[in-house]
Amino acid sequence: MADFENVTKAVVPAAGLGTRFLPATKATPKEMLPIVDKPAIQYVVEEAVSAGLLDVLMVTGRHKRSIEDHFDVAYELEDALRAKGDEERLSQVQELVDLATMHYVRQGEPKGLGHAVLCAKQHVGDEPFACLLGDDLIDPRDPLLKRMIEVRGTYGGSVIALMEVPREQVSLYGCAAIEATEQDDVVRVTDLVEKPPADEAPSNWAVIGRYVIDPAVFEVLENTPPGRGGEIQLTDALRTLASRGSDEGGPVHGVLFRGRRYDTGNKLDYLRTVVQFAAGRDDLAPEFIPWLREFLDQAGS
Ligand code: G1P
Repeated sequence: MADFENVTKAVVPAAGLGTRFLPATKATPKEMLPIVDKPAIQYVVEEAVSAGLLDVLMVTGRHKRSIEDHFDVAYELEDALRAKGDEERLSQVQELVDLATMHYVRQGEPKGLGHAVLCAKQHVGDEPFACLLGDDLIDPRDPLLKRMIEVRGTYGGSVIALMEVPREQVSLYGCAAIEATEQDDVVRVTDLVEKPPADEAPSNWAVIGRYVIDPAVFEVLENTPPGRGGEIQLTDALRTLASRGSDEGGPVHGVLFRGRRYDTGNKLDYLRTVVQFAAGRDDLAPEFIPWLREFLDQAGS
């Protein structure tokens, strides 16, 4: 097995305006919208940590201060919980501070996901890194990132996560042309297109929001012109890396993900995710599920 550097850092782009959730996101970052009682961004940081990535850089923008506060010490709250003797909530609040070493950098202008990743250049340096998009939640029972890091360890280069979607949905995602490898769940990526029309898509394997990226991406991003939507696209930079040899930052492999993924990027998917998470919670499900059944029965009659 080739000897590739360890992946230790995670980059989490969180600078988007969240316009799809206005007015909720006028003064609250969309990453802080709760999935039951945890903000979506916390699940993402927990996922990075459970894949062994304890150094997390968040790429934020204006009006994102509450994300920093969420992962920081809250003295007054801790004092109040301590005074009440509420040890359980106190430790929940304290554990968040020790979860990971958090770093923040701002993306001054919203120039796209590729540009957000470029903002991580100085912090990441010359190491491979993971990138996790906050709109996608991956079920902890179906660990994906660990497998992607393993695949990077075998092949070097970059690794993306691919999920099979119905043809008519490919235009919502980056889409990959792929070739089989000797491993069932790993493919070689030969081409990538950002949000292609269904009839031009090279496959129905969609890019989902988990990446392990070779640092060569930074030089590529610096030279990547704006693509779809007038934005600098990470997909376009990865496409360039996919055509390169291992001495120039390539290749790109894909891990085929068949586990549970939850989308929080639009209202309907967000609602589905909240219901699924609530239905999976031991403290809520015994009351929530019978209520939901009754509610649906009544709604259907
Ligand atoms: C981004 C990427 C896209 C990817 C998607 C996954 O798009 O640009 O390639 O398929 O995330 O969620 P966005 O959903 O941010 O528009």
